Amino acid sequence: MATLTVDLGSRSYPIIVGSGLLAEPSTVSAYIPSDDVLVVTNETVAPLYLDRVMGLLGNRRVISQTLPDGEQYKSFETLQRVFDTLLQSRFSRDATLVALGGGVIGDLVGFAAACYQRGVSFVQIPTTLLAQVDSAVGGKTAVNHPAGKNMIGAFHQPACVIADTDTLRTLESRELAAGIAEVIKYGLIRDRLFFEWLESNMDHLLNCDQEALQYVIMESCRHKAEIVANDEKEAGERAILNLGHTFGHAIETASGYGSWLHGEAVAVGMLMAVTMSEKLGWLDRQIVDRTRRLLLSVNLPVAPPQGMTADDFLKHMSVDKKVVGGKIRLVLLHGLGCAKLVEDYPEEVLLQVLNEFSTI
Ligand code: NAD
Ligand code: GLY
Repeated sequence: MATLTVDLGSRSYPIIVGSGLLAEPSTVSAYIPSDDVLVVTNETVAPLYLDRVMGLLGNRRVISQTLPDGEQYKSFETLQRVFDTLLQSRFSRDATLVALGGGVIGDLVGFAAACYQRGVSFVQIPTTLLAQVDSAVGGKTAVNHPAGKNMIGAFHQPACVIADTDTLRTLESRELAAGIAEVIKYGLIRDRLFFEWLESNMDHLLNCDQEALQYVIMESCRHKAEIVANDEKEAGERAILNLGHTFGHAIETASGYGSWLHGEAVAVGMLMAVTMSEKLGWLDRQIVDRTRRLLLSVNLPVAPPQGMTADDFLKHMSVDKKVVGGKIRLVLLHGLGCAKLVEDYPEEVLLQVLNEFSTI
């Protein structure tokens, strides 16, 4: 077991990573002082892990809620169902919510915790690689709006994050790959040596080697924890965590939530951002090729959905949260391992990239 801290003063919290954590009652219990606990999960994760988590919570009033599975349920309607349960069960301000599942459950339950009675405590038990390396950490919570991904949300930090690597054994390979996309992101934006480690060790990750998994989760969380501690509410540096996301969110929104996995859309988006960085003269061509190769080695897509045009991209990119004064700001690379949020770029280079990728 390994532990890191997200250093946010009085709201600091641990990220605990390891095998067998969900078999260890003291790990979860220690972070839940409340008598009333609502564990929220979905219909895929419930049969796998819900009993185990309920069993860890001892002599409390513990209720569970199982939601439908899918990005399309990261919505107001589903959120309302969580509020209904909390109110029907007469949960008060000292209740704790537990998010058991991937990023969809984590984001939605975190947002429910941020809103219920103006904010209650919550614990993240992420069960996908994507959630363990990214979404469970940092306190971004949200639901989708039909017009834009994650458009309605709040910053609300969890009381702790418990990532049991054993849960990844039941994950489908497509989901594992989607999580690896976010892992590759940390190499691209901040850590050249980590990128190179991934190039040499991808087979171990794809085979779910526990040591390799624990290493990449800890490295990813270390990067994320540092960035969040420096810039919790994304006034600056935190934006680099969105490499590829402006393009990727456009893909997710245009294709209807659920058909493309978030990590898949981010994979294409990262390649588009890397390609644009190269066209601007900020990155060697070989980094573009190495990024494409690494994504392909994980079986991640490297082109947008068939038929998605440059206009489709622009329409959806213009409602991105990084848009300021009508200008689409983009995270781009100035060399491998060095990302920057850029506002001032020639529009025609963006159009060139969108057109190039739309016709692949
Ligand atoms: P997800 O939550 O939909 O989970 C993927 C699939 O795996 C689902 O079908 C789920 O039921 C299933 N699953 C979960 N755990 C499993 C397990 N252990 N075994 C078998 N199946 C399991 O998707 P995700 O990729 O985890 O998360 C994507 C979401 O995260 C998106 O909504 C994205 O916007 C959000 N996100 C948020 C942040 C943030 O900072 N808050 C960061 C990145 C992504
Ligand atoms: N996943 C982007 C962030 O947490 O800021």
